[in-house]
Formats: sequence, structure tokens, C-alpha cells
Amino acid sequence: MQSTGLNSPESAVTETVATDPGLRIPPKPEVGLPLWLLAELTYRCPLQCPYCSNPLDFAKQGQELTTEQWFKVMAEARQMGAAQIGFSGGEPLVRQDLAELIAEARRLGYYTNLITSGIGLTEQKIIDFKKAGLDHIQISFQASDEQVNNMLAGSKKAFAQKLEMARAVKKHGYPMVLNFVTHRHNIDKIDRIIDLCLALEADFVELATCQFYGWAHLNRVGLLPTKDQLVRAERITNEYRARLAIDDNPVKLIFVTPDYYEERPKACMNGWGNIFLTVTPDGTALPCHGARQMPIQFPNVRDHTMQHIWYDSFGFNRFRGYDWMPEPCRSCDEKEKDFGGCRCQAFMLTGDASNADPVCSKSEHHGLITQARDEAEYASQTIEQLAFRNERNSRIIAKS
Ligand code: FES
Repeated sequence: MQSTGLNSPESAVTETVATDPGLRIPPKPEVGLPLWLLAELTYRCPLQCPYCSNPLDFAKQGQELTTEQWFKVMAEARQMGAAQIGFSGGEPLVRQDLAELIAEARRLGYYTNLITSGIGLTEQKIIDFKKAGLDHIQISFQASDEQVNNMLAGSKKAFAQKLEMARAVKKHGYPMVLNFVTHRHNIDKIDRIIDLCLALEADFVELATCQFYGWAHLNRVGLLPTKDQLVRAERITNEYRARLAIDDNPVKLIFVTPDYYEERPKACMNGWGNIFLTVTPDGTALPCHGARQMPIQFPNVRDHTMQHIWYDSFGFNRFRGYDWMPEPCRSCDEKEKDFGGCRCQAFMLTGDASNADPVCSKSEHHGLITQARDEAEYASQTIEQLAFRNERNSRIIAKS
């Protein structure tokens, strides 16, 4: 899993919450509502993308939640104001109860999203999911070129299957939402990627430069594009946008740059424990999908209610608000805009999650980011040399 499609959900969810009189939202105005529930149903996946954001040691994670346990999670989160749910993974399609979970989410009043590679999808499943009430499907591609796509995915049949399923999704009345994770091995083909999306009559295209979490962080040297690659790709995307506007083509091209080329950090997750609530396959609840690596004991839905997890658990309160911030964030006049950046990135790069995100040029660790940019200029790793996200590699990492 790389993109969760969680880019700007606020407007849609706020409206849903505001118009549903059945919700019991507790009066704790100082803490935001868990509007976006990300249900990572499984870490099982038929693909092996080397930029997957799943934990490196996913192979040693515990048993997956049962259907009934997911029902309970969804019901409790909905009672607390959750309005959108994303079914993700791993590959959520490997769960045999996916249609049941979608139907229950719909019954509870969620706006439902399926975030999938398309592998394992069939036209019949699309029909079943539609009947169950699925609102939105996002299919991810690895590249516009079949050979590169399949090499990155670790599957010879992936590209053809994705094309077929993208067309089937559209045929059954869903908007076609495509996600391409871009990196140094495919970003130079951005024009061909956009051409493919146009040929498929996509409605929304997310051209998301790799974010460096999980396996992507492990493979960063082999994935981070150079500044020139990035600038060129954005320029070409803008040229397409201009041409599409002249042609009255409504397709939306969303270009996401990696924060490694920024001087200020992103407002990750819109603030810790502020909107997003992730539940992992074994029931661990997290404020973001990357937080599991931190030396924090996060609560599990098997042991606690969602109410307790969101409002009272240590993990969800650890980086809420501003009091936890050391300098330079504490006195920064931008802290209410970016919340100090990404806690996971601060932890991965500096070993201390309470440090300012090194992406920020005010951080004393910003040199780590500029060093990574310099490395990108000279990196020579081929696709074959990347560490692929699979059970075998995960077990080796978990052991070591
Ligand atoms: Fe965890 Fe940014 S990904 S706080």
C-alpha cells in the first residue's frame, strides 16, 4: 500500500457528519473527530512493490481481525463521527469477506472507498461490491510500460489485469480513479503515464511521487528522483493540464511532490490524532499508517473501545496539540499550519519522533534531507537491485 487516497477528505466528511442526526459525538471539542477510518484489512498481497508503505516486518504480525471484529470497529468509529472508510492492505481483495464488510460499512452510513492494486478483482466482484454499496474504487499502477510495471509489481500478469479492471470499474458506473506512484525509474515517462490515463478515460489521476515510509524508505536511494526529473515531470503535467483545459476535458491530474524537495514540512495527517485513525490487520490502532515503527505501545481494538483509543490512549495523545514540541517548532509561527511535520519521518531520520521533521529547513537535521537529494544525483541502483516487499524479505528483516 502506498497511497491511501486520503488527500483532502475534510469537506466531504464534515458534511456527512453534520447531516447525520443519529451520531453520538462526545463533547470533547479540544480533540478532533476520527473522520477518516483506514481499515488495513490484511498485509497479504500478491504484488511486491518496493515502495510499499507497510511495515518491513509485516510477515511477523499477528492474526488478522475477524469479520465480526471489523464490524465492531466500524460501528464504534461511526458512533464517534467517522464518516469515510478506506479498505486497504496489503491487498484488501484477498479478504473473502470484503463484500460483507462493505455492506456493513454502507449500512452504518460510511462513504466507502476501496484502495486496490486490481489484482484479484473481477467484473463479478465489481458488481457484488456495487450491490453492497461501495462508493469509490482506486486502482494503482506501477508504470505505463507493461514490462516496467510488471517488474516493479513482481508479477507478469499485473499490467494486463489492471487495464482490464480499470475499464470494468468505469463500465459499472464508478469514476475511474487511478494512482501512479512515481519515482526515479518511471517519472521520466510521465507523458506516457498521462497518455495511458487519457486513453482509459480516467476521471482522477494521482501522480504521487513516492513517499518514503516502510519499504520505500528502505529503498530510498534507489527510488528518490533527482530535482531535474521532478521539475521536468511537473512541467509536463502542467502542459497537459493546460491542453486538457482547452479541450474541456474534465480529468483531474493531481501531482504530488515528495517532501524531500521542500523546505517546509507537510501537515502530516492534518495533525496527530486529529482526523485519521488507522486500524492494522491485527487490530493495532494507529494515528497514521507509519506509526507502528515507533517505540510506543499503541492500543489494540481487541482490548479497548475505539472511544478509549481515540480520546484516552497514550499513543493517540502523544503528539496532539503543541505542548510536546521542542524548539524550533515550539516558537515557530508556522506550527499551527504544519504541526511540526511528520512524526514518523522525524523518527525514521533522527531516531526521535519529537524532533522537528528534518524536511524543515529550520531543523538541525535538515542536512539529512539535502544529503539525500545529493545522493539522488549519483544513485545508480536498478529496479532489480531494490528490496522487494515480500514475505521472504520481510521475515529476513524481522529476524535481523
Ligand atoms: Fe506518521 Fe506522518 S506518516 S505522522
